[in-house]
Amino acid sequence: MDPISRRIGEFATRVRTVKADGLYFYLQPVEAVEDAHVTIGGRSLLLGASYSYLGLIGHPAIQRAAREALDHYGTGTHGVRLLAGNTDLHDRLENRISAFTGTEAAIVYSSGYLANVAVIGALVGRTDAVICDKLNHASIVDGCLLSGAKFIRVPHNDIAALVRELTALPVTMGKLVVVDGVFSMDGDVINLPRVVDACRQFQAKLMVDESHSLGVLGPKGQGIESHFGLQGAIDVKMSSLSKSIPSAGGYIAGSEDLVTYLKHVSRAFVFSAALPPASAAAAIAALDVMEREPERVRKVQSHARTLRTRLRNGGIPVDEDPTPIIPVITGDDVPALRMSRALYDRGVFVPPIVSPAVPPKTSRLRVTVTAAHSDDEVAQIGDAVVGAWREVMMEPTAAQASPGAPRA
Ligand SMILES: Cc1ncc(COP(=O)(O)O)c(C=O)c1O
Repeated sequence: MDPISRRIGEFATRVRTVKADGLYFYLQPVEAVEDAHVTIGGRSLLLGASYSYLGLIGHPAIQRAAREALDHYGTGTHGVRLLAGNTDLHDRLENRISAFTGTEAAIVYSSGYLANVAVIGALVGRTDAVICDKLNHASIVDGCLLSGAKFIRVPHNDIAALVRELTALPVTMGKLVVVDGVFSMDGDVINLPRVVDACRQFQAKLMVDESHSLGVLGPKGQGIESHFGLQGAIDVKMSSLSKSIPSAGGYIAGSEDLVTYLKHVSRAFVFSAALPPASAAAAIAALDVMEREPERVRKVQSHARTLRTRLRNGGIPVDEDPTPIIPVITGDDVPALRMSRALYDRGVFVPPIVSPAVPPKTSRLRVTVTAAHSDDEVAQIGDAVVGAWREVMMEPTAAQASPGAPRA
């Protein structure tokens, strides 16, 4: 057998085995969404793994805006924005993002993944260096690899290592430092003040991925700069539009010059079709709702504190981070799969996270809470996770017996 067929075959066999054991929780077909619940296989489950931190999926004002845009502009556009695909709605979305993020301008891509790949490739090349936190999102890593720049990864949130790497680079070399604001699998926050100091000292440009800090950090959900009181500190702000904002797409916000450059040079903008108008309208409406309903930000922040405390009181090691992403680390893959099974059986849906999404031996459940959850539902998730933890992590023999449970 050729090596490619062998690789595919071995992988598919592993997936089949996990499915046969009743431990496969990926690609579950959600049939309906209602507030904090999803329906899978005709059964309503409490979702403990949503990215929609502010609970805005299904918000009437956002639904209405998307519907009106669909009626007015149709389902798609006439191709790429630079040519005939641009609409006034896309321009309005970019103006709305720059106003919300306190920047001069913004550019929207058709996904967050593309935004990261596009901007890094446009900003740095063979003669430059790009320095990344080791736990940065995969789309940042891919952007760095594709850019051809010297790619340096520093240990997570290790500012001394960042400074060491910056010191070692030639003064005249172009330098871009890229970090997540909130790390998507760990829920912790970058030490922005110290990263900003290091970038200023070495004249490096700073890019921050705010996909998990937008809507979550800061008194009104404006993100990481407002969390630290450092408005204007970031050169290149990026976020997905599919987390707190319940749409699709991704943006880069920064100076007018940066955005003009990206609109003509970044390949994922120039060579990829415009975001569908309904998605653009939904994103604008969501930013309006975020400003009109700041209580949603307070709610998710308070739910996050409550759930963290509940898990900790239940004996699970959980940090004090101020975010609704709570990693429950199992180490090996199988206990993570088993915990998902145990939660599913308790009516809570949280898929497992294994390598390569996280480093090997740090498999986990990535439990999240949102403003759509009620106080009772937060308690229900907490109790279910503690129960699953005890079943799988503290009583391995009992857990061994559980694969006979009903299939997902
Ligand atoms: C930190 C981070 N950046 C970028 C992305 C990519 O965003 P999108 O899903 O819009 O492509 C994600 C998505 O999971 C993410 O978590």
